[in-house]
Formats: sequence, C-alpha cells, structure tokens
Amino acid sequence: MASMTRPLLVAPSILSADLARLGEEVRAVERAGADWIHIDVMDGRFVPNLSFGPILLEAARRVTAKPLDVHLMIVEPERSLEDYARAGADHLTIHCEPRATTHLHRSLSSIRELGKRAGVALNPGTPLSLIEEVLHLCDEVLVMTVNPGFAGQRFLPEVVPKIAALRRLSEKRGLAFDIAVDGGITKETAGKAVAAGANALVAGSAIFKSRDYASAIAAIRDAAQG
Ligand code: DX5
Ligand code: ZN
Repeated sequence: MASMTRPLLVAPSILSADLARLGEEVRAVERAGADWIHIDVMDGRFVPNLSFGPILLEAARRVTAKPLDVHLMIVEPERSLEDYARAGADHLTIHCEPRATTHLHRSLSSIRELGKRAGVALNPGTPLSLIEEVLHLCDEVLVMTVNPGFAGQRFLPEVVPKIAALRRLSEKRGLAFDIAVDGGITKETAGKAVAAGANALVAGSAIFKSRDYASAIAAIRDAAQG
C-alpha cells in the first residue's frame, strides 16, 4: 500500500492540553516526538463549541518550529485565512461541507496562494464525492473519525471504508496529499486507520491525558505500524 512508503506522522491536538501551560505543553509533545502540532479552531457555529483564534496560534508559534496544523471548524473560513496565515499556521484545513464554505475550490486555492499547505476536512456523515473535484488543490485530507466539536469522543469505525476509498482515489489519480484522521485515535484504533490508508494521526486525549507523552506517542506509532 502506498501509505506504507510515507512516514507516519503523529499530530497531538492541543485541545486536550493543559492550556494554562500552553508553552510547556507544546514543547513537551515536541520533545516527545510530535511531527505536527494540531490546533482546533472552533467558532460555536460550525461546531457546538468555541476554542482558539489567531492570538493563541501566535502564542504557540513562538514556542515551536514544528508545523502548526490548523483545523478550522468555522463557517466562512475565507474571511480569516489571512489572519491565520499571518499568525503562523503552516497547514490550513477547512471543512468541505457547504455550511462551512460555499466556494470550496476558491478557498483552497487561496490557502495555497498564501503559501500554506491546503487541507480539506470531511465530517463522518459527508461523502467523498464532496471533495473529488478539489483533490488536486489539497496537500492534506482530514477524515474526521468523530463528529467534530469535542475531544475525548469514541472513534467511529464506520468511517474506515471512506479512508480506504480515499487512498484508492489518490493512487488512481497519482495525487500525493496526506491522509490524516482525527477523533478517537488511540493505540487501539490507530492501526485500523493506517491499515486503511491514513498516514497522519491526530490525537488529543490519548496523548495529553497520559502521564508520559513520549510513551503515548510511541505506543500509537507502534500500534499503527505493527
Ligand atoms: C475534534 C477535534 C479533534 C480533537 C481530537 O473536534 O477536531 O482534533 O481534539 O481529540 P481526541 O483525540 O481526544 O478525540
Ligand atoms: Zn482537529
């Protein structure tokens, strides 16, 4: 499988970190082997929760050189892409559901024009057909394995066939985007996602709620590769 030829990437989601100690937490997962730092931006409209904005992103930017993988769970992301780019995002991922952005093609193109890696995310109930026409504009596809809005939810196994179908589609079209999964990723579920074709794993609770971040990241990596 093509995913095997790619390095497996682990992206701790700081939504589950101790935010009173943001800097230390980001540095700790970096030392523990994180490849990307995943930052969940929620607007209380696209998802029923509010989290961070560009100011927190700027703070995270000051403490790490790792890529900041910014997941925008917001409506009309096109209005603030520049703000997030300026605040230090390396990857900007927007949702494909029409409730988020009407002009998905234009929004993804704008991310690349800003010099950032463009990502598109799909909710569990969203079919691949919604992104088929924009895959050539994507550097990352984020397949949600929970309904977004909260950390600590259970992985939805019914999404696994969609990951596999996306991997087949990327191979058929010769496209090189990363396939990331987000939600309920643990050492028990990571293997299923990677076997289906994911090569990047976002994990919040499984890392930040553990005592030893390095062992938690290693356990996820080993389980996924084993
Ligand atoms: C869910 C967020 C996730 C979340 C993952 O809305 O997009 O990134 O932080 O948390 P866990 O790994 O605890 O499911
Ligand atoms: Zn996320």
